[in-house]
Amino acid sequence: MPPHILLRELDIPDIRNFDVYTANGGYEGLRKALTMKPDEVTQVVKDSNLRGRGGAGFPTGLKWSFVPKVEGPKYVAVNADESEPGTFKDRQILENNPHQLLEGALICAYAIQATAIYIYCRGEFWDLAHNLEEQIEVARKAGWVGQNIGGSHWSCEVYIHLGAGAYICGEESALLNSIEGKLGQPRVRPPFPAVSGLYAAPTVINNVETLANVPPIIVNGAAWFKTMGTEKSPGPKIFCMSGHIARPGNYELPLGITFRELIETAGGVANGKKLKAILPSGASGPMVPGTDQVLDTKLTYEDVAALGTVLGSASVIILDEDTDIVWATLKMARFFRHESCGKCTPCREGTYWLEKRMEAIYGRKAAPADVKLIEDVAMQMQGKCLCALGDFATSPILSSVKHFRSEYDAYVASAQPAVRPAAGAARGRAAAPAAAGD
Ligand SMILES: Cc1cc2nc3c(=O)[nH]c(=O)nc-3n(C[C@H](O)[C@H](O)[C@H](O)COP(=O)(O)O)c2cc1C
Repeated sequence: MPPHILLRELDIPDIRNFDVYTANGGYEGLRKALTMKPDEVTQVVKDSNLRGRGGAGFPTGLKWSFVPKVEGPKYVAVNADESEPGTFKDRQILENNPHQLLEGALICAYAIQATAIYIYCRGEFWDLAHNLEEQIEVARKAGWVGQNIGGSHWSCEVYIHLGAGAYICGEESALLNSIEGKLGQPRVRPPFPAVSGLYAAPTVINNVETLANVPPIIVNGAAWFKTMGTEKSPGPKIFCMSGHIARPGNYELPLGITFRELIETAGGVANGKKLKAILPSGASGPMVPGTDQVLDTKLTYEDVAALGTVLGSASVIILDEDTDIVWATLKMARFFRHESCGKCTPCREGTYWLEKRMEAIYGRKAAPADVKLIEDVAMQMQGKCLCALGDFATSPILSSVKHFRSEYDAYVASAQPAVRPAAGAARGRAAAPAAAGD
């Protein structure tokens, strides 16, 4: 097994300790970056083809290059909100390898000449945030945080901001609002954060895992990074394995391994059961059936997209043969309704109606036309919301109907029409579009 690049505590147990980190090459990436021009640092990250690990897979170096080269404040915001169901990789980095994140964020800040870094941690990470603050002070004493970093002319402060438990605050513009003390709701774009972000200044927002990849890229070079994975999806990735899997947990593996290899590495489907479906990206990406074609698909951004789903943050949830897909989809519909921030109408109303009709289907109080109705509502939401949360909410609905239609049909076939509530009767809200036969 080659040594881990991100989950280094698995090879060096005390790597979270500053002295152990520096004795094992820590802060060499930042030291080297400070000898380079800021643009050269961005170019190395661009050449590496590192893609954002927070979900969208956007090329990291390209994002940094969008920041205008103007005088004045610029910021880096580290996205440590980690609220996607089934995602638990960033917390492992924050807990066990915090200096690698800090070093990566500092290299990013140097590349865009930022004056401050804000690390946005989800509220439940209060203990990790406390630990991180201690480590920031240790790094400050060593000259890596604050004034004249590493003896250079560049200075940068690091702040930690704790969220208050809202999934939407992982969305980058809502995250910025939250740091500013405003309601955690997404902003209208353009302008994009690289031009007008935190406090209207140019801002780069990157995920924890993305930034933890940066120090080894600067030390070892872009070509080294591309020896792992594929040309379009290079490097290591932490796969969060949960659901019906024998050994749940985080697995750092090169991108490009197959679903089959990943599941085998995590011990296979729990209790020797057969695989029914996979959610490759938590609740927000479409589910796929556990067919041989899916199992032999490479885990890269491009190959997974060709299956009609997304790699996202690689929070892989395994569903075994006994899973009730309608029940599982209702759970996800409930999550998105609860987390919709309510700012835009299609998401606020759409997530509400999706949950209501899913409840009716699961409660055997729906008509066959309701299956078509939830598809229609989801289609009406797609591409019409202020941020991606609305699109995310449609993924479990549309993909489960597409791949597991027979399970919906069984529920509605066994429904008792006499006990069905009239559409629109619930909680005094405006009536839902009537299902045929209503
Ligand atoms: C509703 C919603 C929740 C999100 N939650 C997270 C999150 O918890 N962590 C994260 O890194 N990105 C999250 N994202 C993606 C961010 O908006 C953004 O794309 C990401 O932080 C960019 O970093 P990257 O380029 O390094 O991936 C979320 C997006 C949406 C729409």
